[in-house]
Amino acid sequence: MHSRYLTALLLAFPAFSAPSEKTFTRDVWPILQARCVTCHQPDAVAPMAFTSYKEVRPWSRAIREAVVSRAMPPWHATKASAHVFRNDRSLSQAEIDTLTGWIDAGSPEGPAVEIGTSVPSDSKWHLGKPDLVIQVPGVHVPKTGVQPYTFLIVPVHIEHDTWVRAAEFCIDQRSLVHHINAFVREPGSSYLTDFPRNEIFVPTVAERGKKRAGEAVFARRQLLLGYEPGYEPMPWLQGGAKLIKAGSDIVFEMHFNPNGKEAVDHSELGLYFAAEAPAQRVLAIDTLRDLDLQIPPQDPNYLSKASMTLGRPARLLSVQPHMHVRGRSMEVRAIYPDGHTEMLLSVPKYDFNWQTTYVLKEPLNLPAGTVLESVAGFNNSPNNAFNPDPAATVHWGDQTTEEMHIAFLELVIEAAANPEVLFASK
Ligand code: HEC
Repeated sequence: MHSRYLTALLLAFPAFSAPSEKTFTRDVWPILQARCVTCHQPDAVAPMAFTSYKEVRPWSRAIREAVVSRAMPPWHATKASAHVFRNDRSLSQAEIDTLTGWIDAGSPEGPAVEIGTSVPSDSKWHLGKPDLVIQVPGVHVPKTGVQPYTFLIVPVHIEHDTWVRAAEFCIDQRSLVHHINAFVREPGSSYLTDFPRNEIFVPTVAERGKKRAGEAVFARRQLLLGYEPGYEPMPWLQGGAKLIKAGSDIVFEMHFNPNGKEAVDHSELGLYFAAEAPAQRVLAIDTLRDLDLQIPPQDPNYLSKASMTLGRPARLLSVQPHMHVRGRSMEVRAIYPDGHTEMLLSVPKYDFNWQTTYVLKEPLNLPAGTVLESVAGFNNSPNNAFNPDPAATVHWGDQTTEEMHIAFLELVIEAAANPEVLFASK
């Protein structure tokens, strides 16, 4: 049939499209429930809730724009990244088409059926009852103002070296917590030794950096778990665990974003012990970084490079790019001993509001001698709306006026191996 005729026919009989008309209850709600409401529900990170037709309807236009531009759900890795991520939040084209089709049809509600359990049950612990819960005793968050990085050291009180197969944050004030990192500090570590336990404090950069000459990387501190909005609790790896040595402390590093509501945060960290010693050990490292970055004034795309060579075989579990407000892009690659290169993660439009950990669906084998390389792009021009001072030459530092370039990695090695051997070669 002639295509122009077909179009005319369809226009003449709009009822033809009725059977496939998208409705809220049938087509849209399942997508919102699966993809949006973890953040778009009362007291979660997003400023508006999408838990009923009444709430969603006025946002139709904004939703259309947000999903077509892929601004929502927030997810910044491109498909050019070589690997599939198990926490990929991005919508499929079919999901986008369903949402836009519904909005273009006037956002009909459809049959007024019960839409079921409106919000996925937010029982306190997603991974079940923890073996041990560590509490953050009330951090006061004022109504307004930029909050400093706030620290707290809590003893774990375990008498034996303990393998932890998973950990989960139960965040109290989810609209106020920008991120929380929990580090394990082994006995004898030089990390923050001048500060008391069980008291909230704000150390200087120098105090945070103080370390003993020649101290082993993992003996000083190890990242156990990071929380950022949208984080989904999950065990690290079947048959893999992180090690907490007897007598260790947990060091919490917390950042809050005041939003006009004064509150006291009582977040908790739950630990799940492995039933037996695991075959594999999961390690978090922060050594793929460029401490020497020096961003010239006005430079719209300064590139900072970092690399490290693996001293022993390992498997890669996750990558988390970290920069501050001038950060614009990050790429992380593997250069294998046979010379071929693979893109592991490409984040062309970095957004410092989203400290996303990109978790590989299948851990990636990296032979000894693999070079891991990260390239971070920074925008120090006035065109960067978040740039506090385009006239500044910017160096490494943990204030947001300074910069960082770290690709945090989680690697897996045999449980019995000495983790320091990862860094054996340069
Ligand atoms: C990981 C958390 C998260 C998820 C998942 C998420 N959002 Fe959002 N959303 C936010 C936050 C935070 C904001 C407010 C800040 C911003 O705009 O970035 C927001 C803002 C929005 C806005 C307002 C944008 C504007 O124009 O002001 C829309 C529309 C939106 N989200 C739609 C969606 C839809 C539709 C989904 C699911 C398909 C979704 N979001 C999933 C966190 C999330």
